Amino acid sequence: MALLNVLCYPDPRLHKVAKPVAQVDARIKKIVADMADTMYEAPGVGLAATQVDIHERIVVIDTSDEQNELRVFINPEIIWASPEKKAWREGCLSVPEFYDEVERPAQVRVRALDLDGKEFVIEADGLLAVCLQHELDHLQGKVFVEYLSILKRTRISHKLKKRTKELSGER
Ligand code: NI
Repeated sequence: MALLNVLCYPDPRLHKVAKPVAQVDARIKKIVADMADTMYEAPGVGLAATQVDIHERIVVIDTSDEQNELRVFINPEIIWASPEKKAWREGCLSVPEFYDEVERPAQVRVRALDLDGKEFVIEADGLLAVCLQHELDHLQGKVFVEYLSILKRTRISHKLKKRTKELSGER
């Protein structure tokens, strides 16, 4: 088991745009395994490679109550989004201790590769739809707080910078 370091907002590396995975090989499988370990340990329901400073299009998600249904998305793309929208209170491992409402399409259809490099399409609603959109934003260098007002974002940024400083001072 290998735990990866999760970048904390407003770390500028969270704004890098991830590149597509060229081939789903042993290196990618190792990254996925480490990302899953990191997500479960946190615990969180989703993690994008960008958050662990790996700038390739890889996402892991588990929205099950038992945390035993790992979903892996390599090179995911949203190919359809419902006109109907829904607000959901979101959080993020890169924005610890902050939660706020974001409005997004209620349903999405996503195309991706699985761990065997095989293409699949999934239609999602509810928490999984929220999670997919949130994680795919990460791959584009976007953090959910960017949907909030500048006032809120500035406040979060200040608090987290202070928190990071305090944590590194304790070491
Ligand atoms: Ni996040």
